[in-house]
Amino acid sequence: MPLLEVEGLKTHFFGKRSVTKAVDGVSFTLDHGEILGIVGESGSGKSVTSLSLMRLVDHPGRVVAGSIRFEGRDLLTLSREEMRKLRGRRMSMIFQEPGTSMNPVLTVGFQIGEAIRSHERVEPAEVRRRTMELMEMVGIPDAKQRLNQYPHQFSGGMLQRLMIAMGLALSPSLLIADEPVTALDVTIQAQILDLLKDLRDTTNAAVLLITHDMGVVAETCDRVVVMYLGAIVEEAPVETLFDDPKHPYTQGLLGSIPSIEEKVEWLQAIPGTIPNANEIPTGCRFSNRCPKVMDVCHTVDPALEFVGEGHRVACHLYTETEDRDV
Ligand SMILES: Nc1ncnc2c1ncn2[C@@H]1O[C@H](COP(=O)(O)OP(=O)(O)O)[C@@H](O)[C@H]1O
Ligand code: SF4
Ligand SMILES: [Mg+2]
Repeated sequence: MPLLEVEGLKTHFFGKRSVTKAVDGVSFTLDHGEILGIVGESGSGKSVTSLSLMRLVDHPGRVVAGSIRFEGRDLLTLSREEMRKLRGRRMSMIFQEPGTSMNPVLTVGFQIGEAIRSHERVEPAEVRRRTMELMEMVGIPDAKQRLNQYPHQFSGGMLQRLMIAMGLALSPSLLIADEPVTALDVTIQAQILDLLKDLRDTTNAAVLLITHDMGVVAETCDRVVVMYLGAIVEEAPVETLFDDPKHPYTQGLLGSIPSIEEKVEWLQAIPGTIPNANEIPTGCRFSNRCPKVMDVCHTVDPALEFVGEGHRVACHLYTETEDRDV
């Protein structure tokens, strides 16, 4: 049984005049110890997907359909209290701007300790020991001294390490990392990604790594899901996706970013910009930007179908030919 099984997830935001279908029918699974990337341009629904998993979507947003099975339980049926216990303990989340998630007037040691104390009754000496252990685990030297320091005394990369330490404080089986290296410079990015891989190897925690950067995916992930306008358009093991991308959108993404070192302008290979999620084109959601668009694409939404081992794509170029002549 996979660790996480998301089926038909829809999360919509209800505005005065329109509905934004931020997540519009997303299904994927994640195994223990696996690093799954979710990649796509800004506005494709990556963050709303991750917030939905944590049940942290606020009004006017709401999960309107689907199921989220995690460790055998459907998260959408749990009470607030059950969900609160699960967050931090079994699944936790780190964000793009590590500094903003920390309290500037409390020491980092106190804050990591709080992640432990909020869920478990532990003696102060034990909290301190575990805090130091966590800081060492994420590669912060001199933990004994540094736990008495404040967030502003740490660099961006070190703060992200601290956030990861907090996220892993209670040994969750799932860590959701939403653009964890986007705010960091390139050499630090590589170090943080290495750290995530090392931690996955030592703790067997699964990582859901959200990014707009194909270089980050190449560097880190085992498998990847490509999102566009609230839907998955392609899914594959990472080597397959880079060797044999099928969806014209994925092909465009790969054309524009060859590696993590070369920060070429995102998506220069694909014309136009992503529409608003309250104006999803009919038929294929990529049809107004696709260089290979056909008649059928304007009327029929292509289903996500297997084209190879673990490789799924939602595009009429790969569906039966008789369906195409509409
Ligand atoms: N609180 C909100 N209220 C209304 N719309 C939102 C809200 N949060 C996100 N959205 C919309 O949902 C869509 C997906 O956003 P998001 O998941 O943040 O994209 P990504 O993380 O891929 O950049 C966007 O169109 C965004 O404007
Ligand atoms: S279904 Fe049509 S418009 Fe959509 S990606 Fe495939 S070829 Fe392009
Ligand atoms: Mg986002």
